[in-house]
Amino acid sequence: MEAASPSRTALRVAMRRAAHQIYDAHPLVFPDPLAVPILGAEYLPEVERTRFKLHKPHSVALRAHLVARSRYAEDLLARAVANGVSQYVLLGAGLDTFAYRNPFPQLHVFEVDHPATQQWKRDLLATNGIPIPSSLTYVPVDFEHQQLATQLAAAGFDTTRPAFFAWLGVVPYLTHAAFHSTLALIASCPSGSGVVMDYGQPRSALPYLEQLAHDSLASRVQLAGEPFQLFFTPPEMAAELSAFRALEDLGSGELNTRYFTGRSDNLKLMGSAGRIVSARL
Ligand SMILES: C[S@@+](CC[C@H](N)C(=O)[O-])C[C@H]1O[C@@H](n2cnc3c(N)ncnc32)[C@H](O)[C@@H]1O
Repeated sequence: MEAASPSRTALRVAMRRAAHQIYDAHPLVFPDPLAVPILGAEYLPEVERTRFKLHKPHSVALRAHLVARSRYAEDLLARAVANGVSQYVLLGAGLDTFAYRNPFPQLHVFEVDHPATQQWKRDLLATNGIPIPSSLTYVPVDFEHQQLATQLAAAGFDTTRPAFFAWLGVVPYLTHAAFHSTLALIASCPSGSGVVMDYGQPRSALPYLEQLAHDSLASRVQLAGEPFQLFFTPPEMAAELSAFRALEDLGSGELNTRYFTGRSDNLKLMGSAGRIVSARL
């Protein structure tokens, strides 16, 4: 991504989480009382202006993927906290709002993000009157050019205590080298630590119609200055996670069954491109 500009994809996914709060039927899959306020007067009007587009089938399916991954991450986080985890690291936090509605008094949150995106988020929070809790530490890091371990340690991250990492909507934008070094850091954490991330399957692994949908999304993120560059098949991802146990790799079918059954609207995932995986140490 461009070094000096905030992530445009972070804004796009935050708009889709806000659209979920406004347009989708209740019960919501991912109720987030701060998803709308964080966009504020600057960005909320665009969610309203693009209402028509947000109801197109591909847009609905993409929104379903985004809310499912956030819901799944926070479900797993709650389980990790119940098992004693007290550090939550959001890698590529974007406009994620968990830290500002953190219900766990003992949980410290580290928001790691590209410096330009993080500064933009902090400005938005200030403009929109969302207070920064003392349980949150910002860690500005460019995964491609800086050592995450060094920056996290300097920010007070305790490598001797288990941590839960969420890496949502980030992996496809990284080089393999940056992915590897970050995963190695997570794998070096103590037993009880865990990670959740989503990833995309390579174009060649997709049926023809999904290849067209892939091309359309890939050209949109390329135009946003954040081209996709890293894909995995499920066996390749399992090999990357060989240091971990309790792997759970979910496709659309499993996520639909878990989170979208019995809905009165059409919100559900489609296709096989996007997957969400979690693992523990
Ligand atoms: C699609 S957004 C997802 C944001 C957030 N996780 C969410 O789900 O809303 C991608 C995020 O990855 C971050 N990112 C991409 N490349 C990065 C890099 N090289 N170093 C640090 N952050 C990066 C962007 O700044 C952005 O916040």
